[in-house]
Amino acid sequence: MIRLNINIDHVATLRNQRDAGYPCPLQAARACLEAGADGITIHLREDRRHIRDQDVTEIAAYLRDLPLDIPFREEKVLNLEIAATEEMLNIARSVGPDVITLVPEKREERTTEGGLDVIGQRGAIEAFATMCRAEEIKLSLFIEASLPQVEASQAIGAQQIEFHTGHYCEASSVEQKHYIEALRLACERAAALGLEVAAGHGLNQHNVAPIAALPHLVELNIGHAVIADSILVGLSQAVLQLRGAIDRGVAPAS
Ligand code: PXP
Repeated sequence: MIRLNINIDHVATLRNQRDAGYPCPLQAARACLEAGADGITIHLREDRRHIRDQDVTEIAAYLRDLPLDIPFREEKVLNLEIAATEEMLNIARSVGPDVITLVPEKREERTTEGGLDVIGQRGAIEAFATMCRAEEIKLSLFIEASLPQVEASQAIGAQQIEFHTGHYCEASSVEQKHYIEALRLACERAAALGLEVAAGHGLNQHNVAPIAALPHLVELNIGHAVIADSILVGLSQAVLQLRGAIDRGVAPAS
């Protein structure tokens, strides 16, 4: 079964809009895990526009010491998304998440707009690879479906790559076929190099099926759509609906 990590950044976005202390990202993390999510993804941005340092500390502590009634509690993970900077390296080392996903970050962007340039940022990423090896943290790199980026990710010592699905999500249905083909080739190359394959960005119940059907895909990270759906149906139901859409994508009805 494909692992589903829920990205709860936008719970924090809503909280920060009035700074009233609610909705609480930690409570959202609990609800997602209780509904069957396999992990929680949070992005600590340089400008702290959504997740803040205290959220990271609280959610990491909660995941380390999960209540006994959470199903499959020993397999739940914290995936910390960060930029490859020295500040984030020090924070990540002290938090000790299960997974670090390195993402590119620009101050002006509304969300993560493209994949990481693993080749261009080699030095900064190598520092994370060294730290992750020492601390036994899985390193995942968020990249475009590009074979040179896949190969550079493996060479630098990442265990996983996460393909950016944003362009696929925004494309017309004709263009989507091209993106799926590029993603398929990149998934095959990554698996041949021994990398775990994840994907995320812009995915929702309606567009996730072809991504879930990609070869070797083991993980999805989904946030904005599931938090948006939760306004209408509740967070548990939104997670369950998304899980159903992913499972139907893996095993399409005949
Ligand atoms: N994966 C990565 C690496 C991301 O940066 C994001 C957005 O923070 C997501 C997944 C989730 O994207 P979305 O919120 O569009 O589902």
